[in-house]
Amino acid sequence: YPKALIGPSILSGDLSSLTNECKSLVDAGADYLHLDVMDGHFVPNLTIGHPVIKCLRKHIQNIYFDAHMMVSNPKQWIESMSDAGVNQYTFHLESNIDNVQELIRKIKEANMNVGIGIKPDTDVKLLEPYINDIDVVLIMTVEPGFGGQKFMPDMMTKVKWIRENFPLMNIEVDGGITLQTVDKCGEAGANLIVSGSALIDSKQRSKDIELMRHSVEE
Ligand code: DX5
Ligand code: ZN
Repeated sequence: YPKALIGPSILSGDLSSLTNECKSLVDAGADYLHLDVMDGHFVPNLTIGHPVIKCLRKHIQNIYFDAHMMVSNPKQWIESMSDAGVNQYTFHLESNIDNVQELIRKIKEANMNVGIGIKPDTDVKLLEPYINDIDVVLIMTVEPGFGGQKFMPDMMTKVKWIRENFPLMNIEVDGGITLQTVDKCGEAGANLIVSGSALIDSKQRSKDIELMRHSVEE
């Protein structure tokens, strides 16, 4: 069973103090950082892109960068994200892709791990042909685009399906995950936990990260 890791999302943080915000989360025990990249097209919002991530990387070396690419054309950003110091490139199956296998290969050639994410309305079985070629599957537990939304517990059937059929797979969940909803994620079989506003707003970040990790490890 793959290791439980907690990846805070900085989306709801103070983006004008991005380095400090990230360092504070790393000091609080974050296992990796989840960076939400939005292009205003795949989702109706804008966040940060590779120029900002590249600057951030100059200040923070000792943490894994997980880029969640909520973009219409994921092929377009592979080289620049790799060059910016991104370790994992997760694209959405619903974006514009000519050839998924080719996209996976290009990401690997750029020395990044590969993730594929699906939105709440997407059938989990559509991931099946690619699972053995990738590092992570991302099950969205909210509609992507904004932090601070409500967790969708129905998505746990997707997590269970992957855990049953691909026992060693890394399964990441993202959206609305708090100390109240993390238990369901762990029970269903998720091992990579993204949490944004719950950790950003917490007054005891290291304790909450530890509690989340403990809940998933059980
Ligand atoms: C949503 C993003 C998530 C989200 C997490 O589009 O992919 O990473 O910001 O934030 P919370 O935990 O606040 O839902
Ligand atoms: Zn995300």
